[in-house]
Amino acid sequence: MDIEVKQKALLELKKVVFQCKACDLAATCTNKVFSDGNPGAKIMLIGEAPGAEEDASGIPFVGRAGKLLTQLLTDAGIDRQNDLYIVNTVKCRPPNNRVPTDFEKKCCSDYLSAQINIVKPKVIVLCGATALKSFSKGEYTISQIRGQWIDLFDGIKAMAIFHPSFLLRKHSLDEGSPRDLTHKDLLRIKRFIEKD
Ligand code: URA
Repeated sequence: MDIEVKQKALLELKKVVFQCKACDLAATCTNKVFSDGNPGAKIMLIGEAPGAEEDASGIPFVGRAGKLLTQLLTDAGIDRQNDLYIVNTVKCRPPNNRVPTDFEKKCCSDYLSAQINIVKPKVIVLCGATALKSFSKGEYTISQIRGQWIDLFDGIKAMAIFHPSFLLRKHSLDEGSPRDLTHKDLLRIKRFIEKD
């Protein structure tokens, strides 16, 4: 699919998402947060859910955690706007930043699947436990599985990484610290897409 076709398909999907009232989150959010970045990118990053700043702006990962994510990506040589397409497991902010329920995630799952089918990324980065749970049976924690390649479907590889909200509380850059491990995970992802 060339980029114009992808953009057109995503625009149509966005219109449907903006009308969605499948769960109660639609009534309490300010803006639906559809995506950011490049639909032609090889990497798709899936986070948990919009927070307050994402809800206000309609753009994923723009708050404190988002700024740290952008920095971590830059440090690994990944350009957020060009090399990534960014989404969340749900498009509407759960009140008080609680974790989205299984029902809320299910209501949004067809939209997420459609985004994956249109973008057709080579790699999906599962950012944090909620995204990981959406693509596994809950058999692994992030600490157990992060950094390892997972075969998803349609030849897509996935890798789970620590969520930047967790990393905001972990300042150490020492060898083996969560920030150091995340840097190494992002470098592996960067090397993988480069050899393509
Ligand atoms: N955390 C997420 O998981 N997604 C966002 O968009 C912002 C913070």
